[in-house]
Amino acid sequence: MRVGVLTGGGDCPGLNAVIRAIVRKGERVLGDDVVGFLDAWDGVMDRRTMPLTVESMRGSLPRGGTVLGTRRGSPLDHSDGVERVRSTIHDLGLDGIIVIGGNGSLTVAEILYREHGIPVLGVPKTIDNDIVGTDLTFGFNTAVQIATDAIDRLHTTAESHDRVMVVEVMGRNSGWIATHAGIAGGATVVLVPEHPFDIDQVCERLTRRHSRGRYASIVVVAEGAVPAEGSLPGGPDPEVDRFGHAQLGGIGHIVADEIGRRTGFETRPVLLGHVQRGGTPTAFDRVLSTRFGVAAIDAVHAGAWGSMVALRGSEIVTVPLAEAAGRSRPVDLALFTEVAEIFFA
Ligand code: F6P
Repeated sequence: MRVGVLTGGGDCPGLNAVIRAIVRKGERVLGDDVVGFLDAWDGVMDRRTMPLTVESMRGSLPRGGTVLGTRRGSPLDHSDGVERVRSTIHDLGLDGIIVIGGNGSLTVAEILYREHGIPVLGVPKTIDNDIVGTDLTFGFNTAVQIATDAIDRLHTTAESHDRVMVVEVMGRNSGWIATHAGIAGGATVVLVPEHPFDIDQVCERLTRRHSRGRYASIVVVAEGAVPAEGSLPGGPDPEVDRFGHAQLGGIGHIVADEIGRRTGFETRPVLLGHVQRGGTPTAFDRVLSTRFGVAAIDAVHAGAWGSMVALRGSEIVTVPLAEAAGRSRPVDLALFTEVAEIFFA
């Protein structure tokens, strides 16, 4: 077969490992030609490609980012976008395209398949871990590890200065990274988008902890965390990029300022930002990415266009793209309330 591959949306540790696995099984076992599209759907519409071979992917397993480049945006934003995709597939003699992407890319892929009959197969990617239909996405484990390493370092400086450190982590509108990094890093408080927070309660917890002689605390704030109605004056509406994506970030500064002002404790904000997305994937993510890549090319050979590979328990399965499209998976509230909260001050 002749199969296209693209990476869409924000980059994520493990993308190269997925591509490498598709190519390895495709070329060496199934006799496929694999064509990489540069810069996501832009490369499909403009026919910018690179050959993907076992040789060209050598050394890519531990590399962060994506050899193909990535963009937000979709053919659906262009009046002739779908037709350009269709003719690229036809003219390059492709059987279809494997789309390695997050919520946005998978939603676009599902529409292209359902409404326009474009043969696509999804691989769920995001550090946010918020894709419906899979128990985990690759990249999440790496982001949690990076955030946890940062929190470990912040403990010692917080203890030396008797400070509260407010660590803002990514995750868009889900609290997966915050909850896992908060548990792993021994945070005093974790604030997630799924649970609007009351700043008075946060300050009470910290004050209680200080009254017990613990003068250093870590507060983990998800970038999408929101104050409960009336608990804090709302910040400005987030800026939206040219693809309509809200650019989150900044709640950590607001929370840190407010904690400092209300409690008198010396407080510092730390914004981890894109550090969480950069660099080498963890061993766990390398394995998951490799399994997803092998499953994706197998699914292509099984004719499972319109599907997405997914992790269910310990098994890799295929599920309809429609399960993931247009939806977002909130953090497991049982994990938050029955495990994480037990350790809050
Ligand atoms: O979806 C992954 C993610 O890193 C989010 O956690 C974050 O809100 C967003 O992407 C940042 O996007 P950008 O790289 O476009 O600033």
